[in-house]
Amino acid sequence: MKTKIIAHRGASRLAPENTMPAFELAYKLGADAIETDVQLTKDNVPVIIHDEHVRRTTNGKGYIKNFTFQALQQLDAGSWFSQKYAGATIVSLDEFLQWIKPKSLYLNIELKNNKIDYTNIETIVYEKLRQYQLINRTILSTFNPASVKRTHELHPDINVALLTSRRNRYLVRDAKQLGATALHVKYRLLNQSLIDACHEENMPVRVYTINRSIRMQRCFTLESDGIFTDVPDLAIEQRKLFHTEQKH
Ligand code: G3P
Ligand code: MG
Repeated sequence: MKTKIIAHRGASRLAPENTMPAFELAYKLGADAIETDVQLTKDNVPVIIHDEHVRRTTNGKGYIKNFTFQALQQLDAGSWFSQKYAGATIVSLDEFLQWIKPKSLYLNIELKNNKIDYTNIETIVYEKLRQYQLINRTILSTFNPASVKRTHELHPDINVALLTSRRNRYLVRDAKQLGATALHVKYRLLNQSLIDACHEENMPVRVYTINRSIRMQRCFTLESDGIFTDVPDLAIEQRKLFHTEQKH
């Protein structure tokens, strides 16, 4: 089996995370999928940004939930990374979906509702995916177990993954009980028995965030279903190497 290469926040080592240049690069480099993070503005517009606050990745300050979408658009989301990307803006989910629609890329949309429990974010995002007919190409995910459950109950036709970095011997059982159809785990949780337990339940396991060749090779050997990486170019090269070596 071929482990999928998922560009984490786009090709985020080469371009500012979660911006159009990072997504474009991930696509050009040949990633199988893009992972991105969604939060809600004051006027309930889903936008793509990792942190709840704009401080780290823009020239502004304040919480996303206190900005209108229009006000957010005035911020520069590229200069913090490099002057080359000055003028990049925070992308709306709409813009991202429009861009990805004609491309053969899978999507993982992470709902960033583990710190701020944005009301209705599950349905707001789901409805956008439906509008673009992207339900079948998307996996939603969240660190918030209650939100996994809500998503599954409200929208049982979309795949939803439980994200976790915590050790728990009942992880697979607990995830299944919530209605998760996949597990997205931090690398330190990865081992053969977790993979086996998931695969027995037909649950894909994807691992974050894998930026080193040696870890990539371990994920390929253990047959994890996907890896999230900031360096999709390296991951693709390493995957080729892995499959060539397997043939000999
Ligand atoms: O979805 C995998 C990974 O993105 C989870 O952590 O903090 O990078 O969003 P984070
Ligand atoms: Mg994420």
